[in-house]
Amino acid sequence: MRIIHTADYEDMSRKAASVIAAQVVLKPDCVLGLATGSTPIGAYQELVRRHESGELDFSQVSTYNLDEYRGLTHDDPQSYHYFMERELFSHINIDPARTHVPDGANEDAEAACAEYDELVAGAGYPDLQLLGIGNNGHIGFNEPADAFSKGTHCIDLTESTIEANSRLFESPEDVPRQAYTMGIQTIMRARRVVVVASGEKKAQAVRDMCQGPISPACPASILQLHPDVIVIADKDALSLCN
Ligand code: F6R
Repeated sequence: MRIIHTADYEDMSRKAASVIAAQVVLKPDCVLGLATGSTPIGAYQELVRRHESGELDFSQVSTYNLDEYRGLTHDDPQSYHYFMERELFSHINIDPARTHVPDGANEDAEAACAEYDELVAGAGYPDLQLLGIGNNGHIGFNEPADAFSKGTHCIDLTESTIEANSRLFESPEDVPRQAYTMGIQTIMRARRVVVVASGEKKAQAVRDMCQGPISPACPASILQLHPDVIVIADKDALSLCN
């Protein structure tokens, strides 16, 4: 694991954008695994800026998002599909047909997950997978559990995740209780993984990810076994790491 220390959120965002931009420049038809949540927004804004200044061409890039709430349609403003359109896709020259998010509107969880697994496998898995990390160490929506998950699956969100994500909904009751998420095995197949983390609330999870025992109690800790992980985090998020 390489750890890049950054001064603050803006610095973290610029550095994460630089790693993603380098991937796009080196391999214009690369496959990017993308995340939603608050943390990557600054990096997405920086990628948009670099695209607008003519530095970055996304026309050949394909993307696969980590997760989606079960029961939300693509055009629901709370869906992760909508989030990606709003924060990134509508501002860059990516081909909409090359962007993929699990189909939350498909209530048949088994079919929706199997279909997504086939899509990701068919694309050859991401060249670069961008991840945020939950306060409880989750990646994607792979919550702390007794075992590491494999492929895309339907998950019951934990109370702590519902609580953390309720800031984006009118009330905690409005947060969907389930989501479809890429599994840990799929995430581990990406050739490079970039984790972004900012703020004190992430400090324990970042420490457990980088220095704790490898355990499904902290799903992100499995990344210690991946050969190419870059953690880009600000000083608050790294404050508990030695
Ligand atoms: C989002 C995702 C989640 C988030 C995590 C951190 O697609 O997969 O694992 O990365 O919950 O969220 P933020 O960045 O909002 O703190």
